[in-house]
Amino acid sequence: MDTLVSLSKRRGFIFQSSEIYGGTGSCWDYGPLGVELKQNIKRVWWRDYIQQRPDMVGLDASILMHPTVWKASGHVDNFTDPMVDCLECRRRFRADKVDETPWVHYCAATKGNKFTIPAGEPCSHCGERRTLCPDCGKGSLTAPRQFNLMFKTFMGPVEEDASLTYLRPETAQGIFVNFDNVAQSMRRKLPFGVGQIGKAFRNEITPGNFIFRTREFEQMEIEYFVNPRDTVEGKPADEYWHERWIADSLAWFQRYGLREENLRLREHEKDELAHYAKRTADVEYRFPIGWSELMGIANRTDFDLKQHAQFSGKALTYFDEERKEHVVPYVIEPSAGVDRALLAFLADAYQEEEVRGEKRVVLRFHPELAPVKVAVLPLLKKRDDVVRTAHAIRATLAKHWTVVYDDTAAIGRLYRRQDEVGTPYCVTVDVQTVGDSDKGESADGKVTIRDRDSMEQARVPIDTLPAVFLDLLSGGKWSAVASRFR
Ligand code: GAP
Repeated sequence: MDTLVSLSKRRGFIFQSSEIYGGTGSCWDYGPLGVELKQNIKRVWWRDYIQQRPDMVGLDASILMHPTVWKASGHVDNFTDPMVDCLECRRRFRADKVDETPWVHYCAATKGNKFTIPAGEPCSHCGERRTLCPDCGKGSLTAPRQFNLMFKTFMGPVEEDASLTYLRPETAQGIFVNFDNVAQSMRRKLPFGVGQIGKAFRNEITPGNFIFRTREFEQMEIEYFVNPRDTVEGKPADEYWHERWIADSLAWFQRYGLREENLRLREHEKDELAHYAKRTADVEYRFPIGWSELMGIANRTDFDLKQHAQFSGKALTYFDEERKEHVVPYVIEPSAGVDRALLAFLADAYQEEEVRGEKRVVLRFHPELAPVKVAVLPLLKKRDDVVRTAHAIRATLAKHWTVVYDDTAAIGRLYRRQDEVGTPYCVTVDVQTVGDSDKGESADGKVTIRDRDSMEQARVPIDTLPAVFLDLLSGGKWSAVASRFR
């Protein structure tokens, strides 16, 4: 994780928020390359799930909602974590996670020597287990108290209870309260889904692990409405669609580069299911901190629509033409964190390898996710015509993709820089491209494309570049494209 944090800062992916003021706990800013990567993740998600599917539509609901939304959803009463405080150092911990970090112990069996003991393990000298504060090793912890994770705020200029509202802790509720608006305006028949990408806020007690758990984050959520009276392939429709969405979600992450061996499914036990869920399965990823939740896929039943109907007094039902009756749809909810997805793609892409005796750091991003698609590099920056040609190529390609120009180092160094940020292709312009009249050499009008993963090169005519990159960046294999130019 330290390697990723340091690379992210050094190469403009992610900076600590308000760093010049000492930083804001658990808030992060996406730099020039980070914002490209994040946009690319959101773009492919939207394209694959909203744009390409006939059964899906999109939504962008507001972050501030009517406060009753959060009463109806159960968040005011149930969206809590148990919190304990250290009476000595005053640090706060989530009571249910306190044994998931290494703990400090002053061991009586070794004259009070201080040890840091791995999470959940007893002291190997005295056999004691943790009872005191894991951080300072001295203070007792208070009894757990429930702490609501929603950020409170006030609508309007007067800070009074009547104007109290919350920053949304999930994007989902914006979809539920708009169920009827979407179904009517878009004339939807079940099953259909509504997808949304947006910010969510949770006042986490113990945020941390870089962008894994933060207080402000983004979600990509789908609420997929099904008719609970239907059966599909012999199964109740909600159970059938739940299985489909679990399989789809796993396949999606693999499609954009997460290795199969780093992904697994985890079923929620009955006693950990959220109050609204009939069944939930998490997609877990092997993060640098160990196996942890990347996304959840829940069967929320008809809980949310029924709650909002009850609290608002508005019917949130669907008229089943076949059975001539109103039904409250069930909801399957594939819910992923954008920041967590970004961390997983970053971790999976990171590789160190040895090339001709030197270390090469390379981010093997899927081309659609790579922040920069092509870097144009002049081999001789003293030659005006080489530089001019390189700038012209960048401008042409930049109409379609994020493309950079760089002439601030020797070519070997420039390649390494692009490898380290995951740029799939570099284009070099040299003297042969533009010709050398002093030596009587004519221009060949060709440039060299270098492939990040194989480091192989191919020489191609400048005017074919847009077509070549269209092919390469939309799934074309390097070997097939390169062989056309041999
Ligand atoms: N609407 C359902 C819902 O919000 P969740 O499991 O609480 O379910 C869904 O959140 C996803 O949002 C998680 O799988 C995770 O990827 C992301 N997420 C949740 N809390 C987060 C946090 N504090 N920081 C970053 N991502 C978070």
